Parts: sequence; structure tokens; C-alpha cells
Amino acid sequence: MLSKKRRRVDPPSIHPRNRYSENPPDFALLGSLCPSFQSFLLPPRRPGGRPTIDWSDFNATRELTRVLLLHDHGVHWWIPDGQLCPTVPNRSNYIHWLQDLLSSDVIPPIQISEEKVRVFDIGTGANCIYPLLGASLLGWSFVGSDVTKIALEWARKNVQSNPHLSELIEIRNACDPSSSGKIENDVVRGEEALEGSTHNPNMWSGCCSELPVLVGVIKDGEKFDFCMCNPPFFESVEEAGLNPKTSCGGTFEEMVFPGGEQAFITRIIDDSLRLKHSFRWFTSMVGRKANLKFLVSKLHEVGVSVVKTTEFVQGHTTRWGLAWSFLTPAKKFIALQTPKRSHNSFMLEGLQRQVGAFQVLKSVESFFLAAGASCKSDLSSFCVNVTLLEHIGELQKNDSDTSEITSSPAIESNNFQHSLKGLPFRISVFHQVPGTVLVRASSLDKESSSGSFFVFFQQLEDALKAQFLKPNTKN
Ligand SMILES: C[S@@+](CC[C@H](N)C(=O)[O-])C[C@H]1O[C@@H](n2cnc3c(N)ncnc32)[C@H](O)[C@@H]1O
Repeated sequence: MLSKKRRRVDPPSIHPRNRYSENPPDFALLGSLCPSFQSFLLPPRRPGGRPTIDWSDFNATRELTRVLLLHDHGVHWWIPDGQLCPTVPNRSNYIHWLQDLLSSDVIPPIQISEEKVRVFDIGTGANCIYPLLGASLLGWSFVGSDVTKIALEWARKNVQSNPHLSELIEIRNACDPSSSGKIENDVVRGEEALEGSTHNPNMWSGCCSELPVLVGVIKDGEKFDFCMCNPPFFESVEEAGLNPKTSCGGTFEEMVFPGGEQAFITRIIDDSLRLKHSFRWFTSMVGRKANLKFLVSKLHEVGVSVVKTTEFVQGHTTRWGLAWSFLTPAKKFIALQTPKRSHNSFMLEGLQRQVGAFQVLKSVESFFLAAGASCKSDLSSFCVNVTLLEHIGELQKNDSDTSEITSSPAIESNNFQHSLKGLPFRISVFHQVPGTVLVRASSLDKESSSGSFFVFFQQLEDALKAQFLKPNTKN
């Protein structure tokens, strides 16, 4: 009989579509195809075993990545000494998981007209691994961002070495998104600023948390299916310094962010709140399970519509994938997959001076009254208790875009596609700072369906933004 532990712990495996899941790289074969790799081969550790390499030798692991990309993916690739060297099977897992998210159709496409999947890779690194893999494996198109001169320069070199992929990959300086990015420019504005800091880890730690991540890097009107990220992992220069250098290399700029990956991914979450409609999915790799838990609860707090997680396993290393979206899940997933939660909130930022919590509360009331709900306002505590009545579950959709407030303050019509009969909840409006209010909905019925709850609240958010915010501040 299996021990308790063995029964419980079923080791998760490499992604089934990963080309190395059934057939791990054959070093002997690669050595015979590529003499430069042959010189790194070590004899098998046990009789009948396979040749191996010295995993603590950066030159050996870099050469392995180079030959795997060349022979298995048709990609020409190189990085300078000391830059982070990716393992191809491990990085492929992330791409295959994005493919799973896409084919699950939990979140419907945001731009029907676009044939190609578009991905924004935050911190693409000198190795530019995700764009190269995603473009060569699946024909996806990428924007890869970074902030250091060396990363931008080598990412561009890696793209230019692969003319068959170069149409699919743009490398963007996050500090200067409008720069042409041509390599012959050599040094463009933001890059020059960061070149100096790369020689001084303390200076880097001091400035990197100020750099843009998504907001200010994404251009007006741009839409992506995903953002993805392998974030800087360590919290401080000291922590990175204490960790024995692995064979994977990695400079301070690649490894360190004040507050570590938790702080970096929190930056992505903050930006995602302002770019809700520019991405179908926001995703990131997470290195520590404790951080994953923290981030998942943060996502619920800010009111995302869907959170998904997965495990990436390669050898003895486990990483996690975290994905979230603010878009309305496809109907069939709403009841099944939206995690239960009893509250939801959004911010209205950029309100005109004369608009305060009171006006917003009145519009909330009008929104629900127009939909036939019963409302009881408590103006002293800035909240309104709402109960959706029997007949409003099946309101007809207008031909026009009915999710916006068309005349102030009442709403002409609303599209409630889901059954919300008898659902009681409270909407509270909190004044934050001048020009900003927080709108919060709390379900007064613990048993209510959180999926339906999300759908109507999303409509309220759209309607209030249409009424109170200027077009360019709606996100
Ligand atoms: C751990 S490395 C990941 C490199 C590569 N994507 C990979 O998976 O091997 C993190 C990268 O994020 C970059 N980075 C740090 N802050 C950034 C920011 N605000 N915007 C874009 N990239 C940033 C670093 O320069 C570094 O190249």
C-alpha cells in the first residue's frame, strides 16, 4: 500500500503539449549535431544513463539553450555573459498555459477582427525568450518591454537574428515607449539613464520601483490578449547577493525589485485596474507559493471577474502561473467558475470638482430604479440598499449600447441578462480624495450567485464612468 504522503502528493508534471514532456532533450543527439555543445557533455552518472552537463556552468547551460532553440525551434539566439539564461522546457510551459486560457474561452476575445494573438511581455530581458518561443511555436505577435540598455539591445539583436519572426516582435523601452527602437540608435533617452545604474546595484534598487510597467507603456487604443511576466524575484540587493549564483546567471537588474516579485506583481495589478479593457488576460509567473496566496486575495479585493492559477513544474523547480481578468466571463462560466465573494468595488477617478459622493449615490439609485429594482437610500451613510425584483431578470437588450447612462441622472435602460431575482445588496459610495470616489457593493445574501453579482456591478461601473468621466479617463 502507498504511504499516506505518496498518496497525497501526486507530483504535477510538465505541460502535456510541451514538446519535452514525453521526450526530454537528448544531449547525446544534440552533441552529435552540434560540436560546440559536444564539448560540454559529461559522461553519464550511472551505467546505461545518458550524458549530462555541469548545471553550475553558465557556459554549458547557455549552450544548451542555444542548441535547443536552434534545433527544436529554428531560432538563432545568444546572450552576453551573466545575463539570465532561460531553460527552454520551463519557459514553454507558460506559453502553453496561455494557450489553454485562450482555448477555454472563459474570457471572450476583445477584438474579433484581429486574427493573431497579441501578447505584451513585461521585462522580456536580453534573452527575449517568451516572444521568441511564442512567435515560433504559435505564430503569436509580441511586444516585449524592458528598461535596461543591455536587455533592450540584446532582445533586439535576438529578434533581428530571426528575420522569419521579426515582423511578429516589437521590443519597447518601457521608459521611452515612443522611441523607434532601432538598434542603430544605440542609446535612446530612457535607456541611457538606466545604463549608469546597471553598474551600481544600490542605485538600481533605488530607482527601479519608479519605472513604468504597463500604464504609460501601452499606447492609446492598443489591445492585447495577454500580458505575461517573469518578474524580478529578489527583494533586495542583499538577498540576491546571498543566494549562490546559479548557472542561470542573472544580473541585479534582472533579479532585484524592492519588495521582490510580490511588489512587482502588485504594480501589475495596480496598472491592470487602469487598463481593464486593454487586456483580455493579465498574467504573471510567481516564484513563491506564499506570494501566490497574497496576490490571489489582493485580486479578489480589487474586484476582478476571474482568477486562475496553475503550477509549472520542471525537474525539482515549481513555479506558479497567475491570471486574472476584469472582463465579463462567458455566460456558461459565470455560475460555475467565478469564485464566491460577497463584495466588489471600483474607483471613479478624475471626477470634476462639483461631482462628489452624493451625486454618484443619486446616480446609483437612478440606475437601479430605472431597471425596476426597489431602492432604499440612506444619505447620511452614503449607501443605498437595493433589491432586484422578480420581473427584472429578463430585461430586453436594446439595439444601442445599453450599458451606458444616456441621460443624466436616470438611466434609460439596462441589460440584465442574468437572473438576479430577489437579490438584496448594498451599494456604498466613499469619498476618497478630491476627484475620486470608491463605489462598493456588498451582497446582503450570503447564498447569492457571485457571478451574477459581478455582471450587474460591471454594468453599473460602465454606466457611471460613461456619465461622470471624460473619455480618456474611463480606464
Ligand atoms: C527575471 S527577468 C525576466 C527576463 C525574461 N523574461 C525571462 O523570463 O528570462 C526580469 C526583467 O524585468 C526587467 N524589468 C524590471 N523592471 C521593469 C519594468 N518596469 N518594465 C519592464 N521591464 C522591467 C528587468 O530588466 C529584467 O530584464
